[in-house]
Amino acid sequence: MADKPKSRSQLLPLLQKVQEQEGYISDENMQKIADRLGIHPVEVYSVVSFYAFLSTKPQGKHIIRVSTCVPCMMAGADNVIKAFEKALGINAGQTTPDNKFTLEKTSCIGMCDQAPAVLIDDKLMGFVAPEKVSEILRELA
Ligand code: FES
Repeated sequence: MADKPKSRSQLLPLLQKVQEQEGYISDENMQKIADRLGIHPVEVYSVVSFYAFLSTKPQGKHIIRVSTCVPCMMAGADNVIKAFEKALGINAGQTTPDNKFTLEKTSCIGMCDQAPAVLIDDKLMGFVAPEKVSEILRELA
């Protein structure tokens, strides 16, 4: 964050860098970025809240994103989410108390032909059945 001021076009790259380094974008870092780019913090917040891959809260070591677009919902994504919620003891949008897992609903991840689809960290998984959830979590532990 100690580099020279940059143009507004640097907003997203700066946010991605902070997300990568710290796992989320704190209010303090949003303010620093706004100051550096000479824009209002609300503009920074609006970008952070628009992109599902940017977070304002600390996230777990593993981020589980279940697609909730129409094809995935029709193929049973809701039951996959319920299975993850039950196995992890949290609701979608939360992180486990041990900070190992964050469970999120997300828009299409480009696996509509293999719905229901899940993205875990950088790994795409298709045809995820609720019965597979325990095995998936065991492999991540
Ligand atoms: S709708 Fe779920 S991956 Fe596209």
